[in-house]
Amino acid sequence: MAQSGSSVAGSGFGATMRRDAWWAELIPVVLVLGAFTVYATWRTFENSYYEFGPYLSPFYSPLIKLRWWPLSPAILILWAPLGFRATCYYYRKAYYRAFFLDPPGCAVGESHTHRYSGETRFPFILQNLHRYFLYFAIIFLIILWYDALTAFWFDSPTGKHFGVGVGSLVLLVNIILLTGYALSCHSLRHIIGGNLDCFSCVAAGRPRHSAWRGVSFLNERHMWFAWLSLFSVGLADLYVRLVASGAIRDVRLL
Ligand code: FES
Repeated sequence: MAQSGSSVAGSGFGATMRRDAWWAELIPVVLVLGAFTVYATWRTFENSYYEFGPYLSPFYSPLIKLRWWPLSPAILILWAPLGFRATCYYYRKAYYRAFFLDPPGCAVGESHTHRYSGETRFPFILQNLHRYFLYFAIIFLIILWYDALTAFWFDSPTGKHFGVGVGSLVLLVNIILLTGYALSCHSLRHIIGGNLDCFSCVAAGRPRHSAWRGVSFLNERHMWFAWLSLFSVGLADLYVRLVASGAIRDVRLL
């Protein structure tokens, strides 16, 4: 990144020999990430319409109700999934280019010359926390799987019974995409086997190799999981909000 940026930086911001529309990929990143940030911030502080029947918004899961905490419980939760996304290797590339223009693209001139220090200094050194956010993300995945399965059990006069509503499917699709996003994480791939030179030289080398191949398959699609799961988590929250506020009716399919 530094080399490509510095090699053209002397020619000024945006200078490049590229002939393609390199700037076009910045626009959807700005629009989608910007819209999601605004929506998620609003929902975090709204502190209402997050539950309907067996449905619970992923923004408010797990549901934490503390007497001494006067603000939205979502504040106590969202730091972990947002920290995981904000430090994600793919998103870093996307928002460094789209929001910081640093550099705006591969082999495209930056706005200023500087000595590249990577992510070795504050504040960007904090990006190295990603591997720890991964552990929190795995805990949240387990909780959200529980929520998604619970969303198939509806109250009735005789107790809980199995059913399928549109909301059940919305939450199920969401957790599948979130799982794909976490399992395709670069840090997870490293932990599972990317840090090894020789699988046959370590304990449980064969199953680790199989797991590493599976994670590598998903890892090649990490960008797609990043975007699809961002849409799904926002839409899952929006769906719960709309049915909880009475704006739409949840359709029961079964
Ligand atoms: S690299 Fe994207 S979630 Fe870990």
